Amino acid sequence: MKIAVLPGDGIGTEIVAEAIKVLDALDLPFEMESALVGGTAFEAHGHPLPESTLKLAKEADAILFGAVGDWKYDKLDRPLRPEQAILGLRKNLGLFANFRPAICYEQLVGASSLKPELIAGLDILIIRELTGDIYFGQPRGRRVAADGHFPGAEEAFDTMRYSKPEIERIAHVAFQAARKRSKRVTSVDKANVLETFQFWKDVMTEVGQQYPDVALDHMYVDNAAMQLVKAPKAFDVIVTGNMFGDILSDEASMLTGSIGMLPSASLNAKNQGLYEPSHGSAPDIAGKGVANPLATILSAAMMLRFSLNQEAAAQRIETAVQSVLGQGLRTPDIFSAGTTKVGTAEMGDAVVKAL
Ligand code: NAI
Ligand code: MG
Repeated sequence: MKIAVLPGDGIGTEIVAEAIKVLDALDLPFEMESALVGGTAFEAHGHPLPESTLKLAKEADAILFGAVGDWKYDKLDRPLRPEQAILGLRKNLGLFANFRPAICYEQLVGASSLKPELIAGLDILIIRELTGDIYFGQPRGRRVAADGHFPGAEEAFDTMRYSKPEIERIAHVAFQAARKRSKRVTSVDKANVLETFQFWKDVMTEVGQQYPDVALDHMYVDNAAMQLVKAPKAFDVIVTGNMFGDILSDEASMLTGSIGMLPSASLNAKNQGLYEPSHGSAPDIAGKGVANPLATILSAAMMLRFSLNQEAAAQRIETAVQSVLGQGLRTPDIFSAGTTKVGTAEMGDAVVKAL
């Protein structure tokens, strides 16, 4: 079981260190190798995704990723910015299916800003398409406008596009995931305004006919954003495009108490996967030892489940996480009155102990 470990920038190194502690404690035959990625790789090699890092990732069975990015790199040309590393990994490994389960553990019901009855027992799955949409569509750039509201003015443009096979394969992923759950899929689009998402809706409907046992409904993204905070438990599996999925999954993280609780898996057609917390490098708290490592630890559990065929070990980690929450241990992001505030390393140590 070869794992490429890519901690990255900011809190990335702090939270990945805790996940490694937990993996080590399982006493399984992992072969783990680390490499630089993001801003740290740019400093050392002049590129956020050096060839050697990409090679390590490609040859691994799974990738454990922290986070990349820092405001201090905002002035770099786009291809050199840390965030290009994660986009490059997704693209080069064909990691098109992003799973973001939003589960509200009963111990954290009070940590959310939403009413307890809205989120108690919440267990929804957001499936985000990850290699298409406006984040990758060409052409893009800046130019002098030839037409539009201000001809002759400087303008910028990106291109939203999806091909039929791209939509079909993510649709299959969603319907198959729903089969293992409550057999309901909500496809989120903006078909009323965007041709790309009318096409998305049409293809979802077409693929859905192959899954008569799964109920499919469609929702516009603006309504979905509202429903997620109004009645989140009405959803089961949500499938959507790259940009809407990016936004809705951050929104959904707040249903679980904190973005520091939300793991993710990004899979390709060979079930090779990259596992990372849904959050970023949190430069505002980096180096302070206060970041919540649980999203990363839970991502490691997803890695064991999806890419390494170690379901029992995955469940052991998830149970240990619930156990430390049950003990009342909380990093500041999930702290509430009556619980015990701990730092990043203490939280990781507690999970190891609970294992
Ligand atoms: P962010 O997710 O890093 O932080 C948003 C807020 O959540 C901050 O207040 C942060 O302190 C808090 N937060 C995040 N993770 C936390 C944790 N584990 N424990 C406690 N609090 C946590 O998003 P932001 O601030 O928009 O972006 C910061 C940098 O991260 C940017 O450079 C951005 O491009 C990058 N980024 C990288 C991603 C990746 O590597 N996959 C994903 C999202 C953003
Ligand atoms: Mg995001």
